[in-house]
Amino acid sequence: MKIALITGGAKRIGAQIVKTLHSNNYDVIIHYRNSKKEAQELATLLNNKRTNSATIVHAELTNIGSINKLKRSIPKLDLLVNNASVFYPTPVPEVDQNSWNDIINTNLMSPFFLSQSLSLALSNRNGCIVNIIDIHSDRPLKNHSVYNISKSGLAMMTKTLAKELSPSVRVCGVSPGSILWPKDDTTTNQHDKDVMIEKIALRRQGEVEDIANAVVFLASSPYITGQIISVDGGRTLNQ
Ligand SMILES: NC(=O)c1ccc[n+]([C@@H]2O[C@H](COP(=O)([O-])OP(=O)(O)OC[C@H]3O[C@@H](n4cnc5c(N)ncnc54)[C@H](OP(=O)(O)O)[C@@H]3O)[C@@H](O)[C@H]2O)c1
Repeated sequence: MKIALITGGAKRIGAQIVKTLHSNNYDVIIHYRNSKKEAQELATLLNNKRTNSATIVHAELTNIGSINKLKRSIPKLDLLVNNASVFYPTPVPEVDQNSWNDIINTNLMSPFFLSQSLSLALSNRNGCIVNIIDIHSDRPLKNHSVYNISKSGLAMMTKTLAKELSPSVRVCGVSPGSILWPKDDTTTNQHDKDVMIEKIALRRQGEVEDIANAVVFLASSPYITGQIISVDGGRTLNQ
């Protein structure tokens, strides 16, 4: 069995990546921060399908000590999926060091240091890293400057690590378009959502399975590295 670590794997897109990898014969390590109950329930579901195939691990990813502790708990690894992320508006006049550190450390710092610290384990098994980025890594989403910067950095990290960790570790990315509305979203009303959907060539949001399937595709494509696939229903055609 191959082994995959999925950060932020308890809920939403991360949970689907966990399930799809599991059904593609990966044993999964489900990372969580606050969602212990959901992580445990998911692990139980998967262990009922295949004994000892899912474990859970806690880490606060803005904290380098916590990242190092997570690394020490993982001796063998074939696939790291950097999925955990925070997303909230940061209009430029309102950005302070707290929001900067929160977003940059979660979305950019932690994928870098996780990749660094797990690169030896990955290289021992010709492994792969898949970063979950965002189509707004390229063209900015208004009022989300720090998020845009973090994801743009993650896109460059994908390419720079693909170069530096080759030939023993491949590094790729998946850039989702609109898949799920943010969980505690109070700022986007129905009209704004309709306008957003109108700009998607396929006229609908994507499914969590669309992202998970792209992760599996990249993880099982031994001659692809340094590439980022947009899974956005054609949203970037109209950006
Ligand atoms: N949703 C979309 O339509 C969309 C669009 C474009 C890109 N994306 C990207 O796709 C990925 C998944 O999206 P999503 O909407 O499913 O993500 P999400 O629900 O916003 O967050 C995923 C998980 O990240 C974990 N997390 C956040 N901050 C953390 C921290 N400091 N330390 C440890 N874990 C932390 C949380 O785990 P706990 O719950 O355990 O605390 C959370 O459940 C993200 O990288 C996102 O940027 C999503």
